[in-house]
Amino acid sequence: MAILNENLFPAILNSINHPLLIVAENGLVVYANAASEGFFEMSAPILRRQKIDDIVNFDSPLLALIEQVFQKNIAVNEYEIQFEIPRLQKAKIVDIQANPMDETGGEMMAGSGQKLISLMFTERNMANMIESHILSRNATKSIANMADILAHEIKNPLSGIRGAAQLLGATASSDDKSLTQLICDETDRICNLIDQMEQFSYGKIPEFEDINLHLLIDHVKKLAENGFGKRVTFIEIYDPSLPLISGNKDQLIQILLNLIKNACEALENVPNPTITITTAYKVGLKMKLPNRDKLLSLPFQLTIEDNGQGINSEALPHIYDAFISNKIGGKGLGLALVAKLVTDHSAVIDYIGDKSGAKFRILFPLLGQQKD
Ligand SMILES: Nc1ncnc2c1ncn2[C@@H]1O[C@H](COP(=O)(O)OP(=O)(O)OP(=O)(O)O)[C@@H](O)[C@H]1O
Ligand SMILES: [Mg+2]
Repeated sequence: MAILNENLFPAILNSINHPLLIVAENGLVVYANAASEGFFEMSAPILRRQKIDDIVNFDSPLLALIEQVFQKNIAVNEYEIQFEIPRLQKAKIVDIQANPMDETGGEMMAGSGQKLISLMFTERNMANMIESHILSRNATKSIANMADILAHEIKNPLSGIRGAAQLLGATASSDDKSLTQLICDETDRICNLIDQMEQFSYGKIPEFEDINLHLLIDHVKKLAENGFGKRVTFIEIYDPSLPLISGNKDQLIQILLNLIKNACEALENVPNPTITITTAYKVGLKMKLPNRDKLLSLPFQLTIEDNGQGINSEALPHIYDAFISNKIGGKGLGLALVAKLVTDHSAVIDYIGDKSGAKFRILFPLLGQQKD
């Protein structure tokens, strides 16, 4: 069996995509991995000379957490902590895992035999994204299964019922005709609903081509401006150097349409209704998606933001579920379909809005990577 060379340990720690600090009992940061440089916006050698209480606010929940781990010598995890870095005047929402290290760690790293603990931070944006991606995938799968069952078990008998009602209608009195018409209308409505659900089926593999995302956004914006989004001001912040994206045109239009329609609907009673659409190309973010061996680089960012009420935290876990809607006449299929189509593009969607408005972000993979 191969034995790991100890010289590899720094490389291993630097390969962790989350900020990791080792802190001694006197508060000194004795080790900071590469990911912490971006997180604290400070180089690792400088970070390593800081005391943790100089980096965070004096009343930061992190300090109490560290004290607890040192005193009780137990691992403590805290979720969704508001974490402020006064020097940067920034607050981040993070999950923190704090673990005591055994004495050998203290001997090796601090030289003094001081007790040490490790602190690992997971930024909530990323955690939310992974969570919502999994949620949206699960929701999609259950609708796809249900659509297949409904198509088979309901649509076929329904066409028989409709046919019978039509036959009866041909010889019925005018009073009864209104009833047979009612049966026909209602069976049509159910068929339409099932047709919409069938879009979730995994049967067809859509054609992918190289697409200029900006042209599709303009197309959907025009549709909105001439219809459901007449009152709304659109602001476009486009990255002019955005490369072509590999995708299915109709599906991408459907994604944009559903998100922009939802935003317009949320803005119905809002003064100065505004939708901001942003595109950007940012290298660096990689994710391991289910059913894929490789990490996928997701550099294309599309955000659609409105200045409505946003989505509250109770509703948030269910927005990708089918048939969840707070609108009169809403079917609750819009976001469920968005989630399915986003997944078909090996892309990821997450919600990063707050009370000042809803904001959806989609990260698309690099051209040509989808079929890896
Ligand atoms: N931009 C937004 N602002 C506020 N709430 C939103 C926004 N987008 C979606 N939602 C919430 O998520 C729910 C689900 O949206 P979804 O598009 O799936 O269904 P729907 O719009 O209600 O119905 P459908 O799209 O089928 O007509 C909405 O009912 C609404 O409560
Ligand atoms: Mg909708």
